[in-house]
Amino acid sequence: MRLKPKDFMKLLIRPVIVVSTISKEGVSNAAPFSFNSPVSFSPPIIAIFSNPKHDTWRNIKENKEFVVNIIGEEFGPLMKILEKDYPYGVSEIKEANLTEEPSRKIRPPRIKEAFAWLECKMIHSAVLGDHVLIAGEIIEAEVKSEVFDKVVLLEKAKPLCHISGEYFSTPLTVSKFERA
Ligand SMILES: Cc1cc2nc3c(=O)[nH]c(=O)nc-3n(C[C@H](O)[C@H](O)[C@H](O)COP(=O)(O)O)c2cc1C
Repeated sequence: MRLKPKDFMKLLIRPVIVVSTISKEGVSNAAPFSFNSPVSFSPPIIAIFSNPKHDTWRNIKENKEFVVNIIGEEFGPLMKILEKDYPYGVSEIKEANLTEEPSRKIRPPRIKEAFAWLECKMIHSAVLGDHVLIAGEIIEAEVKSEVFDKVVLLEKAKPLCHISGEYFSTPLTVSKFERA
């Protein structure tokens, strides 16, 4: 079956992360992103891809800092709150009744209910198509110990993944395959 090329993402599952940032005035902001990717081991770099109109991009442009909150399936029902376009200066973290926790090295807060956190400093940005690539160096990474043993324990962490629109994927398992 042939698809419209713009529907390519309907074929790919992608982990949903929630990016928390902070405004000049010190108000936190959070938004879900499923366009995201590891970029480099050394230095460790992750990229997120944002619509240039998002408050997330506005805040990162201003102070270069963001937290990648890695989340479980219990965040599924919160997507509709976290993705809402609240006026600039309204914190989606508070609107979703989530808990802010101070980060270790940067000003934007973490979301306590996530199962892992990557504290990032933007090192590069570029417009690509209708999104902005935002590359951040990971300066602090932390995971809840109960969901980690050599790798993330997917059966416990139950990461929320996105397919398209209101379609998500939840049950994932860890398998081992030999490598060259
Ligand atoms: C599951 C999910 C994944 C999303 N992924 C992205 C994404 O990768 N990039 C993007 O620009 N917007 C994405 N969005 C939309 C933004 O989260 C949404 O527009 C949000 O209001 C932006 O918030 P902000 O203006 O506070 O930054 C996604 C929304 C959902 C629910």
